[in-house]
Amino acid sequence: MGNHILAIDQGTTSSRAIVFSAEGRALASAQSEFEQHFPNDGWVEHDAEQIWQVTAKVCRDALAELDDPSSVIGLGITNQRETTVVWDRTTGKPICRAIVWQDRRTAETCRTLKAEGHEDTVRQRTGLLLDPYFSATKIAWMLDNVKGARERAEHGELAFGTIDSWLIWNFTGGKVHASDATNAARTLLFNIHQQCWDDELLDLFNIPKSMLPEVLDCAAEFGTTTDGLNGLALPIAGVAGDQHAAMIGQACFSPGMIKSTYGTGCFALLHTGDKPIASEHRLLTTLAYRLNGKPQYALEGSIFIAGAAVQWLRDKLGIIEQAAETEALAESLDSNHGVYLVPAFTGLGAPHWEPDARALICGMTRNTGRAEIARAALEAVCYQTHDLLEAMTADAGKRPDTLRVDGGMIANNWLMQTLSDVTDICAERPEMIETTALGAARLAGLQLGVFSSLDDIASSWALERRTEPAMAGDTRETMIKGWHKAIKRSLLD
Ligand code: G3P
Repeated sequence: MGNHILAIDQGTTSSRAIVFSAEGRALASAQSEFEQHFPNDGWVEHDAEQIWQVTAKVCRDALAELDDPSSVIGLGITNQRETTVVWDRTTGKPICRAIVWQDRRTAETCRTLKAEGHEDTVRQRTGLLLDPYFSATKIAWMLDNVKGARERAEHGELAFGTIDSWLIWNFTGGKVHASDATNAARTLLFNIHQQCWDDELLDLFNIPKSMLPEVLDCAAEFGTTTDGLNGLALPIAGVAGDQHAAMIGQACFSPGMIKSTYGTGCFALLHTGDKPIASEHRLLTTLAYRLNGKPQYALEGSIFIAGAAVQWLRDKLGIIEQAAETEALAESLDSNHGVYLVPAFTGLGAPHWEPDARALICGMTRNTGRAEIARAALEAVCYQTHDLLEAMTADAGKRPDTLRVDGGMIANNWLMQTLSDVTDICAERPEMIETTALGAARLAGLQLGVFSSLDDIASSWALERRTEPAMAGDTRETMIKGWHKAIKRSLLD
């Protein structure tokens, strides 16, 4: 009997499937991008049906690479969080396109709820803020804007799920409607203290309870695949939102440990133990993970645009052909020449939470070219991480001394060094940089007995590169001051 696990990382711009060995080696993998829809200013949509098709296909492709697919004993799923799908329970078809986490269309609803004084209740119960980022206002938007949807939902005909639920539903041929606690905790409807859906919040957002999935631990029985894998029956045994899966993949299992993942956005999570810490600096309180019914909590700083800024340089400005070129461009300069890029393309997340902020580039002269702009896009990621770490230090009362980093973007060594320089903290990159997929595989492995404990998982975490801060203090200060001036300008818009 084998002990390999198939892990799905269903991200914002692509679906990836990786088969992992128990040691954490990638034995086979496949990846595919899918379409992004921007039907209006600030709107971002995905075709959920396409996500299912593309995800099942990359799974089949990865399995086909193996000499012995029967060595795979289970499936782990990790996913872009908050993105909202509503589908018909009978036909299994979505009622409209999925509304993506980056979508700002419900900003006005959030402002109204805030003005009515609801933010404190929401924060106390969910650890989140009233921002269009989260699922609840997106569900309500669908119910109010898709013809007949509210009535159908009230009759129990519609199901809601984040992408994990949607995939589980499809892989099990519509038999299982479930989610895990980390994904549930991003909906604005889940009480993170009581670990259940919150009836008052359901009332506040006007969402029928019958739409919601059952919430399970991150390592649990989520059903067995009947569809999508050419008849292969695999137990779905591990599920977590991508940032929480990265906590597992990075083995951040003790209070004080922190990881930061650089994908489309950047999300830093600080493990705070078995008690939630309420942020006083506009960070989120969320779950690190939940195992055996016991939640572990985290403080989260969410930056909406990280790698997406580099994508923008490539796809919209056309000043690079490949993301990797930014490393040499940034390195070709002796300083940032006073140029800053605030990537508020979808508003600003933590700690500002300004859905209406707009992106800008400032400090340009006649001498400014693609190198300065590319460097500014990379530096923005470092400054934003700096701001999150300051807020976390203030909330947690202790400055972390090491930041575990991962995600495709951090393969850029210049970026990793600059991150250490700007944040004044050591950064550590593990050998396996795909920590989200690894985390999903680890969770499934835990459920299926490949691992006996979290310690067992932690013992396989291996360091690949460590960077130490090497920048003079006054240079750092000048750069950060320049960044904060630029941020102020983007908030004025
Ligand atoms: O909260 C959104 C996050 O889960 C998306 O992650 O990796 O697609 O940037 P990513």
